[in-house]
Amino acid sequence: MLVSAKEMLTKAKAGHYAVGQFNINNLEWTKAILLTAQELQSPVILGVSEGAGKYMCGYTTVVGMVNGMINELGITVPVALHLDHGSYEGAKKCIEAGFSSVMFDGSHYPIEENIAKTRELVELTGKLGLSLEAEVGAIGGEEDGVVGSGEVADPEECKMIADLGVTMLAAGIGNIHGKYPENWAGLSFDTLDAIQQLTGDMPLVLHGGTGIPADMIKKAISLGVSKINVNTECQLAFAAATRKYIEEGKDQSGKGFDPRKLLAPGFDAIKETVKEKMELFGSIGKA
Ligand code: 13P
Repeated sequence: MLVSAKEMLTKAKAGHYAVGQFNINNLEWTKAILLTAQELQSPVILGVSEGAGKYMCGYTTVVGMVNGMINELGITVPVALHLDHGSYEGAKKCIEAGFSSVMFDGSHYPIEENIAKTRELVELTGKLGLSLEAEVGAIGGEEDGVVGSGEVADPEECKMIADLGVTMLAAGIGNIHGKYPENWAGLSFDTLDAIQQLTGDMPLVLHGGTGIPADMIKKAISLGVSKINVNTECQLAFAAATRKYIEEGKDQSGKGFDPRKLLAPGFDAIKETVKEKMELFGSIGKA
């Protein structure tokens, strides 16, 4: 059964570790993440961007696939199905479709509008027992065609949004989606510290988890980060493993590639990546 992310994140914040959000794009991705979480007894959050939702034939298809897998694979660890960087309309659609958690990313609106829309969604998700992530200060890089430049959030604005009663808060602290450029200035820990001081027990979310050095991840967790999002690293691992398999020319018996065999190395590569991240985030055995 899908659960809200609230309890797992409250425990993570109190226990000084972070729960990984791994984005899903298809059946193999989803199965690899769920099986790894179960094997390692870790709570997990499956992230779905609006683009990935469309690709997978809409939110109800995603809910059906994930619920079916939880059932068929005997998954007993806490799993939240979470809309990643949702629009206001997208968040409402996911709530109707049966997601257990949504992110409303109002960071590109003026703060008053971000507050007004987030407040409405706090009410709606609160009534249904779902978790809600809000965002202040756009995360840099490209996410589904939307390009941001890596802002640093204003801690006072973070407090305003946290006080609305959201479950978790994503605040830009110089983090970027995708690969970090060579001249990246690193995370702004002063900002993170100031945000945590003003928002208290609120679990903070670090987007752009790909390529952040391990010492920075650990420091971010020590300063209140309880959820870390990873997408690109799984994509890179999947692509590299699939490319290697094709280049080695296995399974070319004149019939082409059996899709189940073709996707198997990528599936294993995602499992390995998720395991490494869960080790680094400290969530193993915390289910
Ligand atoms: P990366 O693609 O950089 O891992 O970021 C993922 C993310 O933050 C999804 O919201």
